[in-house]
Amino acid sequence: MIEEVFGKIFGASPDAVVRAPGRVNLIGEHTDYNDGFVLPAAIDRTIEFAARRREDRLVRVHSLDFQDQVEFSLDAIQKDSEHPWSNYLRGVFKFLEAEGYHVKGSDVVFGGNVPREAGLSSSAAVEVGAVALAMKLFDLKLAPLEVARLARRAENEFVNVPCGIMDQFICALGKRDHALFLDCRDLAYRHVPLHGNVKIVVCNSGVRRALASSEYEIRLKQCRQAVAQLRTTGLAVNSLREIDLADLEVARHSLTEVLLKRTRHVISENHRVLEAVEVLEKGDLERFGELMNASHESLREDYEVSSKELDVLVELARKQPGVLGARMTGAGFGGCTVNLVRADAADSFAEAVKEGYRKALALDAEIYVCKASDGALAGHEEHEAGSV
Ligand code: GLA
Repeated sequence: MIEEVFGKIFGASPDAVVRAPGRVNLIGEHTDYNDGFVLPAAIDRTIEFAARRREDRLVRVHSLDFQDQVEFSLDAIQKDSEHPWSNYLRGVFKFLEAEGYHVKGSDVVFGGNVPREAGLSSSAAVEVGAVALAMKLFDLKLAPLEVARLARRAENEFVNVPCGIMDQFICALGKRDHALFLDCRDLAYRHVPLHGNVKIVVCNSGVRRALASSEYEIRLKQCRQAVAQLRTTGLAVNSLREIDLADLEVARHSLTEVLLKRTRHVISENHRVLEAVEVLEKGDLERFGELMNASHESLREDYEVSSKELDVLVELARKQPGVLGARMTGAGFGGCTVNLVRADAADSFAEAVKEGYRKALALDAEIYVCKASDGALAGHEEHEAGSV
C-alpha cells in the first residue's frame, strides 16, 4: 500500500493519494500532432502517488522505482540531469505556479507498474498524476482539459520532448471498459464502449525505443514541411488533417517521395480511425482488426517507424487463433504492439507469441492482458469540449 510506504519514508500519513494509468493506442498513430484523430484506452497499469503538504516551499520526492530521492525549492525549479526521473514532477510544479495556481511544498512518494520507455506512456502517467496530486493536496480546480494541457506542457517545455496531446489526454480522461475517440484539433471527444468478449493484449518487445526521440522529431518536421509545400500549390490547409486523398493526388508533384509517404500515412490513418470508431460502435470487431492491421502496414511502409522486433511480434500475432488485429502502438522504433484477441484465446495467444519471439529473435517479450481502465480524473470528467 502506497500509504504505508509513504509512512515508512516520511514518518507520517499522506494527505492525498492518486493513481494515473498508462495507455495503449488502439489506432490513430502519429496523427495527434497533425490535428488528427486517435483512439487510445487507459490500461490497468498505474503509477501511484502519496503526498503530504508542507508549510514551506520545499518539495521532496521519493521514487520507489528508482530507489532515489531528490528535493528542490519551488523558488528555483531547474531541470536535473542527474535525476531525470524527477523532471516530470519538476515541470508540473513549475507550470502550475507559472499559471497562477497556488501550490506549496510537499513530500511525495511515487512508483508503479507502467513499464518505462516501452511506449505505454509512463511519462504522461507521472505528469498527469502529479497534476491530479497537486489538485487534491492544494484544492486546485483545473478542468480536465487543462490537466491534460498542463501535463503536456511539462513534457514539451520542461522535459523537452515534443509529443502531441494524446497520451496526457487519455491518462487524464480514460474510462473503464471504453476507448476514447479524440479529435486532436478541437479536443472534442467521446468514450466508445469496448466489448467484453475481446481482450487488448500488449506485447512488449523489450527493445527500448532507441531512435524514438530523434526520429519522432524528424517525422514532426516532415509533416510541417509537407503542409508548407502543399500550401504552395494553393491548398489553404493548416495541417495534414485537412487534406484528403483527392487533394493529395492533385498536389503530389509538390512533395518529395518521402513527404508523400508521410502525408499518405496521416491521411489514411485518420480515415481508419473514423471507420474504426464506426465499426466498433456497431460491434464489427473483424473489421476493426483489419483496420489495425492496415495501420501497421502504413506505419511500416509509409511512415517508417516500425522495427524488426515489432514486425516479428505482429507477424507472430496474426498467425494465432482468435486474433482480430495486430499493430505496433505508440511512437515506434521498439516498445510494444497492441493486439485485439478473442477473450477465450488470450492466454494461449500470450504463450504462443512469447515462445515464437524467443525462437525467432532470442528475445523475451513481456505480455500484458489489459483492461481498459479509468483515467486519473475519473469522477470529475464533466465534458468541457463538445462531443465528437
Ligand atoms: C508518442 C507521443 C504521442 C503520439 C504517439 C504517436 O506516444 O507522445 O503524442 O504522437 O507517439 O502516435
